[in-house]
Amino acid sequence: MNLSRARHCAPELIVLDEAGSTNDELADRAAVEALPPYTALVTAHQTAGRGRRDRGWSTPAGRGLAISVLLPSPPPGEAAWLPLAAGLAMRDSVAALLPHSDVNVKWPNDVLVGERKVCGVLGRLTAQGVVMGAGVNVRLRADELPVPTATSLVLAGAADGPDLDDRLLAGYLARITELVGGLLERGAEASGLRLAVTAACGTLGREVRVELPGGSEFRGRAVAIAPDARLVVRTASGDESVAAGDVVHVRP
Ligand code: BTN
Repeated sequence: MNLSRARHCAPELIVLDEAGSTNDELADRAAVEALPPYTALVTAHQTAGRGRRDRGWSTPAGRGLAISVLLPSPPPGEAAWLPLAAGLAMRDSVAALLPHSDVNVKWPNDVLVGERKVCGVLGRLTAQGVVMGAGVNVRLRADELPVPTATSLVLAGAADGPDLDDRLLAGYLARITELVGGLLERGAEASGLRLAVTAACGTLGREVRVELPGGSEFRGRAVAIAPDARLVVRTASGDESVAAGDVVHVRP
């Protein structure tokens, strides 16, 4: 992989031919060596990737990109913004590679092209900071998609040149550094992060079904992202706010 652009967008970029989970690999390295904030670790072949809700995440050799970035820990009240900042950064990078701009963030941590998932984000808290992982379907073919609701950059219309991974990664690293820097310096409100995520969030305005830990659920319309990064859902009996750990299904 030629990642000459991306190398300028992180203080340290670790590129592996193969890794189990890039989140685990970066967390393990950060625990034993001093890595600067925004160090990134990437591979195009992840063999034991992990997704949300104890699912796996597949990155078949050369067809996807698994990226983990060591982010500084924000003050506790702002931590919930990190996955949204990562999702927005990836949304912007993906949008720049496609001939159309129908790319949106599904709150709290997916990137969709139209209704189809192209990237999932999963963070891991460590003593050294937050390891923020992103898995992108880059050039999966239709018969390789893990679920019918997924897509890949190439299926969505990105030009499959030799620099596709480099452009994707460079755009993502530059943007996540900018967004998280703003969050740490000024907070989500003053830095414009809440406004930018709101504008990019395809969940807003949609009818959703929310599953709460413990098994109960409710339905309503997603109407806003609150100052603490929770999703505000308008129900028949008033507004409820939903934490990132709750499961939100967008109803067609
Ligand atoms: C999801 O379930 O949608 C989140 C998927 C996150 C996968 C990425 S790939 C890079 C990083 N390493 C992992 O093991 N998981 C994340």
